Amino acid sequence: MTVLLFFFLLVFPVAAQEAHEICASCHKLQATDFQSHPHAKQQINCGTCHGESETHSSTNGGSPPDRVPAGYELPAECGACHTDAQKDYSASKHGVTVLARGQKLAAHCGTCHGVHAPRTLAQMKVQCNRCHEKLAEPHPPVPPSETAQVCFTCHNNHTLKTAAR
Ligand code: HEC
Ligand code: HEC
Ligand code: HEC
Ligand code: HEC
Ligand code: HEC
Ligand code: HEC
Repeated sequence: MTVLLFFFLLVFPVAAQEAHEICASCHKLQATDFQSHPHAKQQINCGTCHGESETHSSTNGGSPPDRVPAGYELPAECGACHTDAQKDYSASKHGVTVLARGQKLAAHCGTCHGVHAPRTLAQMKVQCNRCHEKLAEPHPPVPPSETAQVCFTCHNNHTLKTAAR
C-alpha cells in the first residue's frame, strides 16, 4: 500500500488538485468557479492556461503569471484539445474578425463559454446583446428570448451559418 502510494506520488508530482490549491490560496473566486467546469474533472488545471507561474506565486503576484491568453490566442489555446470547434470557429465571421486582431471586436471562445465557470445559454445571450442588440435589416423575425438558443435554432453555433448558406 505504502509502495503504491509512493509510486503515485512519483508519477504525478503535482496532481491537478494540488496545483489548484496553490493558486486557490489567493484566487478563491476563480478556483471556485473552475470547480463547476467539466474541465475540473479532467487533467486540466490552472497551469494548463496560465503556466506553472511559480515566480508569480512566490512573489505574491508581484510578477505576472507566466501566461494570460488574450481573446485572439484562445482559438489556438482551446483548439489544442477542441479541434473541430477551432476549425469551424476560425472560418466564421467571429473567428475571422478576432484573428485579424483589428479594432473591431467579435466573440471569442471565452466570450461565449467563459474561461473558468462554463457560461449557460442565458449568460451567452447577455454577451450576444452587447454587440447584436439590433440586427441589421433585413433579418428574419426573432422571438424575444432570454437564451442564446433562439439564435442557434437557425445559426450553427460555431460556423454561424444558416441552412440558407
Ligand atoms: C500569494 C498570492 C498569489 C498566488 C499563490 C497566486 N497569485 Fe495570481 N495574483 C496575485 C495577485 C496579488 C495578483 C494581482 C492582483 C489581481 O489582479 O488580483 C494576481 C493576478 C493573477 C492573474 C491576472 C494577471 C493579469 O495580468 O490580469 C492571473 C491570471 C493569476 N494571478 C494566476 C495565478 C495562477 C494560475 C496561480 C497559481 C499557479 C496564481 N495566480 C497564484 C496573487 C497570487
Ligand atoms: C481553459 C483555460 C484557463 C484555465 C484552466 C484557467 N484560466 Fe484563468 N484565465 C483564463 C483566461 C483566458 C483569462 C483572461 C480572461 C479575460 O481576459 O477576461 C483568465 C483570467 C484569470 C485571472 C484574472 C482575473 C479574471 O478572472 O479574469 C485570474 C486571477 C485567473 N485567471 C486565475 C485562474 C486560476 C486560479 C485557475 C485555476 C483554478 C485558472 N485561472 C484556470 C484561462 C484559464
Ligand atoms: C488540455 C485540453 C483542453 C483545453 C486546453 C481546453 N479544453 Fe475544454 N474540454 C476538454 C475536455 C477533456 C473536456 C471534457 C469533454 C467531455 O466531458 O466530454 C472539455 C470540455 C469543454 C466544454 C464542455 C463541452 C460539453 O460537451 O459540455 C467546453 C464548452 C469547453 N471544454 C470549452 C473550452 C474552452 C473555451 C477552452 C479554452 C478557454 C478549453 N475548453 C480548453 C479539454 C480541454
Ligand atoms: C458565438 C458563441 C460561441 C463561440 C464564439 C464559441 N462557441 Fe463553442 N459552443 C457554442 C454553443 C451555443 C454550443 C452548443 C453547446 C451549448 O448549448 O452550450 C457550443 C459547443 C461547444 C463545445 C461542445 C462540443 C461541440 O463541439 O459542440 C465545445 C467543446 C466548444 N463549443 C468549444 C469552443 C471553442 C474551443 C471555441 C473557440 C475556438 C468556441 N467554442 C467558440 C457557442 C460558441
Ligand atoms: C464582441 C462583439 C460580439 C459578440 C459578443 C457577439 N458577436 Fe456575433 N458578430 C460580431 C461581429 C463583429 C460580427 C461580424 C460582422 C461582419 O463581419 O459583418 C458578428 C457576426 C455574427 C453573425 C453573422 C455571421 C455570418 O456569417 O453572417 C451571427 C449569426 C452572430 N454574430 C451571432 C452571434 C451570437 C448568437 C452571439 C452570442 C452567442 C454573438 N454573435 C456575440 C460581434 C459579436
Ligand atoms: C429564423 C432564423 C433565424 C434566427 C432565429 C436568427 N437568425 Fe440571424 N440570420 C438568419 C438569416 C437567414 C440571416 C441571413 C444570412 C444567412 O443566410 O446566414 C441571418 C443573419 C444574421 C446576421 C448577419 C446580418 C446582420 O443582420 O447583421 C447576424 C449578425 C445575425 N443573423 C445574428 C443573429 C442573432 C444574434 C440571433 C439571435 C438573437 C439570430 N441571428 C437569430 C436567420 C436567423
